[in-house]
Parts: sequence; C-alpha cells; structure tokens
Amino acid sequence: MLASQQWHRMVEAEHAQSERMRAGVPPPADFWQGRAEAFRADPFRTGDPLLERLYSFVEARDTLIDVGAGGGRLALPLAMRCAKVFAVEPSESMAAVLTDQATESGISNVTLVHSSWEEAVIAPGDVIICAHVVYTIRDIAGFLKKLNGHARRQVVVVVYNQSPQSTIYPLWKLVHGEERLPLPSLPQLCDALTDLGIHPTLEHMEPGDRMGFDNVERALEQLGGRLYVEPGSPAASRLEDTLSDVLEEEDGRWMLKDAEPLHQVLVSWRPNQDRA
Ligand SMILES: C[S@@+](CC[C@H](N)C(=O)[O-])C[C@H]1O[C@@H](n2cnc3c(N)ncnc32)[C@H](O)[C@@H]1O
Repeated sequence: MLASQQWHRMVEAEHAQSERMRAGVPPPADFWQGRAEAFRADPFRTGDPLLERLYSFVEARDTLIDVGAGGGRLALPLAMRCAKVFAVEPSESMAAVLTDQATESGISNVTLVHSSWEEAVIAPGDVIICAHVVYTIRDIAGFLKKLNGHARRQVVVVVYNQSPQSTIYPLWKLVHGEERLPLPSLPQLCDALTDLGIHPTLEHMEPGDRMGFDNVERALEQLGGRLYVEPGSPAASRLEDTLSDVLEEEDGRWMLKDAEPLHQVLVSWRPNQDRA
C-alpha cells in the first residue's frame, strides 16, 4: 500500500472514532473557534527556538508562503525578516487573530489568502513553511506535491514526532475503554515523502513542556473536551475518578504524569519541480 493511502486510512479512522464519541453532535463549523487566541504570539519575541531556526531559511528579499498560518505565530515574525508573506489560512477565527495581531504590531507585508492549501490559487514563493497542519490532511500526496511545486528554494514542514494528542491517548482506554486511533505524524510523513521521491533533512528540536493545567477543574474541562466527554455522563465520572491517578502537582501546576513531552521536527527539502 502506498504511504499516502495508509495516511488517508489513519485520518479517516481517527475522524470516524471522534464522530462516534461525539454521538451525533456535529463538529463546529470552525474547529478553531474558541482555540484561536492560543495561537496569538508576540511577533517581537526572542528566544523561541523554532522561530530562530526558521529565520535561517529566509532571506531579506524572499517571498514566503505560510501554509496554515493560524494566528500568525510564525508568519508575523518571519514577515519582519523578508519582503512579503502570503498567509494561507482557511479558518475564520484564526485569520481574525492573524490580521488583528498584524495590525496591532504594524506589520503590513502579510497578505491573507483565506483558503485551504488544496484550494488556494497562489503564485510560487521562495520559501514555504507549513507548521502543524498536515496531521488531518486527507490527500497528503496532493498536498505535499503542491508544497513542492510552489517553492522556488525551500520547503519546511514542521511536525511533532508523534501524533499531537498522543500524550493523552492512554486516557482513552481509561475513560472510553478503547485505544485512541492515532493521526499520522513524522514517520508517516517521511514515508509519504519517500514515495514522492523526496528525501528531506530532519532536524529534531528539544522536547517541549509536559502538558499541564492551572488546576484540576481546568484539567477536567480541557481533557474532557479533547476526549469528547459530555459533562455529567458516565464517561465524565470515569475521567474525574482517573484524574487523581494521572495528575501530579509541580510548582503549582497540575501535570500529566508519565506523559512524554512531544518534540517538533523540521522536515525540510529543496524542491525539484520535476520530481513530485
Ligand atoms: C495547529 S494550527 C497551526 C497554526 C500555525 N501554523 C502555527 O504553528 O502556529 C493548524 C492550522 O492549519 C490550518 N489548516 C487546517 N487544514 C488546512 C488546509 N487544508 N490548508 C491550509 N491550512 C489548514 C488550520 O485552520 C489551523 O489554523
């Protein structure tokens, strides 16, 4: 089976499991509504290791495309290091954070392309970045080919080494009595690129912080949302019962015990327009 077919199966299976757990409640039209503010970041910040690494791919006269730019966490600081940024972003709420933050920061060389990457009509750029977007993409081969075909010099895809929610996968068994079906991440991305004849450079960043919460109530609320647990349901009681075993206090925050922090990986390659 092609890696892209395996990828498609994983995304479909994960989505089907989520849908079953939502028990008929449709997902929100804009998944990021209520979450987008978390992707707002100060474009003038220093000491962000991912950003520092991304700066090295960009030259002052470059046009950069940020695919799935979110709230502009990366696109806005990168815009201050290059000539022009096209921020491709389909979510209304994410796009609102990005444009608001750009205005507030006086950054005027960013153009929002309010579209998915698959549907975006856009000219090639010198560099394309795409951070934490691919996990839920159904046609990964088409998506990667378009990245490859739209970059003149460099493509940089940023992914976690494992599925982004994998730190809470063990809770699925405890709360729902079944294993969580994982979304694809780094290993499957490498396989999909190999099938396209692309052999990227991998750069592993230091692990991030462990998942933590301000207090137990916040943990219950946030984990409940991620596990599709209805408040007041038997699954909610199971989650509540489980929390004392899986959380530990550390410096005033409640951390998930035994949760290996994920780390980000820069998957980069120089595009060859004929190859993919
Ligand atoms: C986890 S956020 C990451 C945002 C940003 N790249 C960052 O690292 O802060 C994923 C973003 O990808 C966007 N996205 C999802 N599917 C997409 C697609 N098919 N094309 C372009 N963007 C997409 C979402 O709307 C969301 O803003």
